[in-house]
Amino acid sequence: MTFNVLLVGAGEINFGSVEGPWNHSRRLESKLGKSLRVVGLVDPDQSRAAAALEGKLASEVAPAYVSCRAFSTVSEAAAALSDDLLPQLAVVGAPPFARGSDLSGKDLELQLTSAFPGCALFVEKPVSSGPVDGCWRVAAELDKRRTLVGVGYMLRYSKAVQMMKQIIKENNLVVMGTNARYVMAYEWARKLSWWNKDSSGGPIVEQATHFCDLSRYFGGDVVLPSVSAHIVSHDEAPGALSAKRFDETAIPPEKRLPRLTSATWKYAGGAVGALTHVIALHGATYDTEFEVYADGYRLKLIDPYGSTPVLSVRRPGVAGEEMHTFPDDDPFYSELSTIIDAIREPNSGARSSILSSYEDAVKTYELTWQIRRAGEK
Ligand SMILES: NC(=O)c1ccc[n+]([C@@H]2O[C@H](COP(=O)([O-])OP(=O)(O)OC[C@H]3O[C@@H](n4cnc5c(N)ncnc54)[C@H](O)[C@@H]3O)[C@@H](O)[C@H]2O)c1
Repeated sequence: MTFNVLLVGAGEINFGSVEGPWNHSRRLESKLGKSLRVVGLVDPDQSRAAAALEGKLASEVAPAYVSCRAFSTVSEAAAALSDDLLPQLAVVGAPPFARGSDLSGKDLELQLTSAFPGCALFVEKPVSSGPVDGCWRVAAELDKRRTLVGVGYMLRYSKAVQMMKQIIKENNLVVMGTNARYVMAYEWARKLSWWNKDSSGGPIVEQATHFCDLSRYFGGDVVLPSVSAHIVSHDEAPGALSAKRFDETAIPPEKRLPRLTSATWKYAGGAVGALTHVIALHGATYDTEFEVYADGYRLKLIDPYGSTPVLSVRRPGVAGEEMHTFPDDDPFYSELSTIIDAIREPNSGARSSILSSYEDAVKTYELTWQIRRAGEK
């Protein structure tokens, strides 16, 4: 049985990058093997789409791409794909400015579900770069259309994160606090658009979003007005960066990124959350840690993005730390595998195994904007 996929976006998230492990097409190929049939690739940058397809057709996975056509828009794809070429899953790896709204040109999800009503969506994070109310309208519409959606907060699917959840469940713990620390190595981050908060959304909305999402995964809903934040801005003495490999003067001063953001908030359940995001390290290795506290327990997840994340557990009655390592985990594979299983077995309860729903991801987006605004105030 073939499984039809429509890829939206011919960029790094769908086709890979030297910068990180993300590469959705590769995970689709390993999950679906011979059943994978990529029916289309939508990207307004047709030369990029052609290059991406050429690469696949020249490789051993060519059979999955032989019937794939490149389209500039979703409506072109809709006109060409019917019957046995209808997609079952659209993997939406376009930039956030094209998504998360009901405004024309920023409404990829709604375009896709109108064109292909039975098609499930796997949408990248953050859900948008526009106003949050637009995202809520999209969420309501997707719910009304009963579209199956998963969002790319892959860390939720990591084995280490699931072990943390398991420990909390087994011991009936009530989370008291979360503490996320994300120290970025900036030397090789040279995309000018990333350093401009107008185009990228800034370090919290674009990058720390994964940690804000993990915080909510453990702490629950955030009381948004409780968010407070301080920043070190680019023009303050501690914010001077000596290893930039691009010309920041090309970005208007008011659009440059804060170097450090320190935020705290209250969760609706009473716990407290904290986040520190820093653009400080040289070289290419980030330093990231995420902690959860509860009576008797401290769960510390170290380097969740790395090839071997570590979970350190302090528990009652045990001296020292209990260490767990997860060398062969691939949460990018698990998030796609989960939605594919849910599509293939719609009545098996697999739907509820999707760990990041659209509506929930909008709440994370909302939190990241609240932190950004609180810091800018
Ligand atoms: N989960 C992760 O760790 C992770 C990693 C990388 C990227 N991402 C996310 O994936 C998304 C894409 O990032 P990227 O690095 O692939 O960007 P990219 O710039 O490399 O590629 C994006 C592609 O989308 C195309 N595009 C623009 N408008 C479009 C539209 N309306 N329809 C279809 N295609 C369109 C662009 O022409 C470009 O080829 C972003 O939201 C990013 O945050 C997530």
